[in-house]
Amino acid sequence: MANQYTLQVCTRQELASVSYLSRKIFFKKKPASAIIFAFEGLAYAYINHCMHMQRSLNCEQDAIFDETGLYLRCSMHGFIFDPKTGECQSPVCFGQRLQALRLEEVDGVIYFAEKHLTLSD
Ligand code: FES
Repeated sequence: MANQYTLQVCTRQELASVSYLSRKIFFKKKPASAIIFAFEGLAYAYINHCMHMQRSLNCEQDAIFDETGLYLRCSMHGFIFDPKTGECQSPVCFGQRLQALRLEEVDGVIYFAEKHLTLSD
């Protein structure tokens, strides 16, 4: 059963049919955008906010992964991030992490499971 902080994001099937999804949210009372994707069979979500210059990973093109599909990549300057941890792998921001958002999956439906998160529309 989903916990008290859950907000539905999508179904597992929907997530499997796209490279990523975006959702407008409020996180800790501030407007933000979340990216949600499946990687190696698990669902992940992060605030879509690059550590380098505060841009969205998909600000320059409609993609959040590099050409190998192994790393998230910011389309502004190409910094890459580990999709499992959000940790930046590029020298300037090495070790800094994208803000992870907890997800919960119940019966094939994926929910946000964050206390300080609400959907904005
Ligand atoms: S703003 Fe993301 S790599 Fe520069």
